Amino acid sequence: MSDLSPSDAAKLAAARAAIALVQDGMAVGLGTGSTASVMVRELATRVQAEGLTLRCAATSQVTADLAASLGLSVESLDDIGHLDLTIDGADELDPDLNLIKGGGGAHLREKIVAASSDRMVVIADPAKVVEQLGAFHLPVEVIRFGWETTRERIKTALDAMDLDGRPVLLRMRDGAPFVTDEGNHILDLSLEAIPDAVALNRALNAIPGVVENGLFIGLCDLALIGQPDGGVVELAVFREDETREDG
Ligand code: 5RP
Repeated sequence: MSDLSPSDAAKLAAARAAIALVQDGMAVGLGTGSTASVMVRELATRVQAEGLTLRCAATSQVTADLAASLGLSVESLDDIGHLDLTIDGADELDPDLNLIKGGGGAHLREKIVAASSDRMVVIADPAKVVEQLGAFHLPVEVIRFGWETTRERIKTALDAMDLDGRPVLLRMRDGAPFVTDEGNHILDLSLEAIPDAVALNRALNAIPGVVENGLFIGLCDLALIGQPDGGVVELAVFREDETREDG
């Protein structure tokens, strides 16, 4: 690991710890982002070395393409139906292992895949661990039709939660609005801090035109935080199934 940057060494350590949880015959959800792509590469290496049989569902087209190119068996989520384990990155995680995701614009599929899994394990470097969510922008995927009126409703909802005046920006890429795998736009909310993530999650997902926001509440029960020296810190919470938020 010595020729890797501290951040890349941490991602690799987390990825390796996560793929150690994968067992032969499992159905595995593959996350999206730079940390998840390290995990996909490590997983493919292990599958080849040990001759494992896995069924994989990807959380984005980019991940599906990468996994298939490395020889992993990628199927649609519906063909698999239910997953044993999903391994994904995160933009922020708090002490309850609630997350902000969607920095890569894939949080809609990521949340569907995580919710279809017995277990979601997050892999991250130490910079992602926060006391309170919200310093990272919160992505909200919105239908393109009427997106500006949807943005106004989001601002009204933020006002009602004492989050008034926070910027709500249309995500751009290469000079044009970013388009997700599902053909939608993303609004990035610069909230600075999210005092009540459960209430915000519900309020945002109740707005017509909002498809899904990047708050993952009660979906993750284990985070593997890779360290630059190759070590891994495990953060775990106990969850009963009924504590999972459905949005
Ligand atoms: C993509 C995501 C990613 O998991 C998140 O952005 C973290 O990415 P990275 O590992 O590159 O920091 O939610 O939608």
